[in-house]
Amino acid sequence: MTVLDLFKLTNKKALVTGGAKGIGRKINEGFLEAGVESLIFCGRGRHGSLEDEQNRLKELWPSRDIRGIACDINNESDIHSLIDQIRDLKTLDILVNNAGVTWAVPTLDQTMKSWRRTVDTNLTGTFFMCKTVLQELMINNENGGSIINIASILALKGVAEIAQIGYSATKSALLGLTRQLAVEFANYGIRANVICPGFIEGDSMAELFTKEGSPIRETLIDMVPLRRFVSVNDMKGIVTFLASDASSYITGQAIAVGGGLTVSL
Ligand SMILES: NC(=O)c1ccc[n+]([C@@H]2O[C@H](COP(=O)([O-])OP(=O)(O)OC[C@H]3O[C@@H](n4cnc5c(N)ncnc54)[C@H](OP(=O)(O)O)[C@@H]3O)[C@@H](O)[C@H]2O)c1
Repeated sequence: MTVLDLFKLTNKKALVTGGAKGIGRKINEGFLEAGVESLIFCGRGRHGSLEDEQNRLKELWPSRDIRGIACDINNESDIHSLIDQIRDLKTLDILVNNAGVTWAVPTLDQTMKSWRRTVDTNLTGTFFMCKTVLQELMINNENGGSIINIASILALKGVAEIAQIGYSATKSALLGLTRQLAVEFANYGIRANVICPGFIEGDSMAELFTKEGSPIRETLIDMVPLRRFVSVNDMKGIVTFLASDASSYITGQAIAVGGGLTVSL
C-alpha cells in the first residue's frame, strides 16, 4: 500500500455533526475529496442550511451518497431518529463530533442557563452521539471505526483575553471522555482521538476575533509561535488523517493544532 493509499477514505461511511456551517463544511469536503462513499452530516438548521450544503456537495460529487439530516444533539430522540434514517448503511466507519457552542462572557457574569446550554451541547450531546453510534453502527463494524472529537486549544490553555469558562470546561472534559472511549472500545478496533484547535480563520465561531480589523486579532496572533490562525486546510488535513488508516495506531490522543501555542512560554 502506498502512503497516499493510507490516507484514502474510499468505501468508508462518515457522520459529521454540525456539518452545515464553519469547520463542519470543510470536514465534509475533506472527506469527499479523500473518497468517502457515504457522507452524513447533521445540524439543527439554525446556522447553515442542511439542504443548501447537501445540494452544494452533491453538485461537486454527484455519484456519492450525501445526506444532510436535521438533528439536535441535545435531544436524545433526535439522535435516535438520525440513526434510524441511516440504518440502511448498516455500519459507520467515522464519527466526527464537531457540533459545539460557545458563550464568551466574563466568568462572574456567566448564567446557569448559558452554562447548561454549553454543557448540554459540547459534552452531553457529544457523549450521547458517541454512545448511540457505537451501540447501533460501530461495534458491529468488522473494520472498526474512528471517533474524532473536536475540542479546542482552550482545553489545554487558559486565555484571559476571551473568557469562555463553560466552553473551556466542556472542551477539557472531552479529553477524558475520548481517553475512556479509546480504552473501552479498542477491542472492537475502534479508535478515539480529540483535536484541540486554536482560533480558526474563516466562516466559524471565532469570526469575531479573527476577522481583519478585529481589535483582538493581532493580540491573539502574537501569542502563536507560527504567527497565524488555524486555516481550514489545517483542519481538513488533521481530521482526514485521524479518520484514515494512516493513523491506525493512534488512539486516545489529544492533538493540539495550535501553531506552537502549547509549547511556548
Ligand atoms: N472556530 C474556532 O476558532 C474553533 C476553535 C477551536 C475549536 N472549535 C470547535 O470546532 C467546532 C466547529 O466550530 P465552528 O467554528 O465551525 O462553529 P460554528 O461555525 O458555530 O458551527 C457549529 C455548528 O454546530 C451546529 N450545532 C450547534 N449546536 C448544535 C446542536 N445542539 N445539535 C446539532 N448541531 C449543532 C451548528 O448548526 P445549528 O446551529 O444549525 O445546529 C453549526 O453548524 C466546534 O466544536 C468548536 O467548538 C472552533
